[in-house]
Amino acid sequence: MLSHKGTQTIETQRLILRQIGRQDAQVLFENCFSHPAVTRYLSYETHKDINDTYEIIDKWVSAYKRDKNYHWVITLRQDGMPMGTVTCMDIDESASCGKLGYQLSENMWGNGYMSEALSAVIEYLFNEVGFNRLEAMHIVGNSASGRVMRRCGMQYEGMCRQKVFCSGSYKDVNMYAILKSDYRGGAI
Ligand SMILES: CC(C)(COP(=O)(O)OP(=O)(O)OC[C@H]1O[C@@H](n2cnc3c(N)ncnc32)[C@H](O)[C@@H]1OP(=O)(O)O)[C@@H](O)C(=O)NCCC(=O)NCCS
Repeated sequence: MLSHKGTQTIETQRLILRQIGRQDAQVLFENCFSHPAVTRYLSYETHKDINDTYEIIDKWVSAYKRDKNYHWVITLRQDGMPMGTVTCMDIDESASCGKLGYQLSENMWGNGYMSEALSAVIEYLFNEVGFNRLEAMHIVGNSASGRVMRRCGMQYEGMCRQKVFCSGSYKDVNMYAILKSDYRGGAI
């Protein structure tokens, strides 16, 4: 049974995850949403205009009115700079299950930031909200994303053929999940 608490602020050693707002749009547009290296393996269209970014941010902000919404912007603790997002979506109430998605500005890759952010979100969703199972998937070839999942304790469950449509074609994806009973806490 889930006890929804919404997108509460989560603090880690180097990061603060908080609710997104319009003030985050410019930096996220430039470094994430419009950046082909970031959107290459994601299912949304690369943003061409900052209004595309405002539109998605406005949608998330309006969804915060309901507790059953989990859309964080990842910011750097030292200067507050927004640098990515983590989301829990497609929530199945009866199975206490949700699906995780994330993206990070390319200039921040390779510093362990996403492993730190995602493991903190997993901890929150298990311990505070009561999820039993958290899933994530990545397009085959996006090995960095698979590494993040494994570092956060998620287990590989198999490959789904042509599961998503991305960049003009159907793509195979690798499925991962972590159960509350698997959970040991923190990133590996
Ligand atoms: C996937 C992504 C979130 C990883 O974020 P990150 O903060 O760089 O990840 P971490 O620094 O925590 O690194 C995790 C692992 O990925 C590896 N890695 C990071 N960038 C990599 C790259 N470009 N190619 C290969 N491996 C990479 C790291 O070396 C690390 O591996 P290790 O555990 O063997 O040390 C980031 O590359 C990204 O936003 N990509 C575009 C959006 C995306 O693909 N989102 C996920 C959709 S499923």
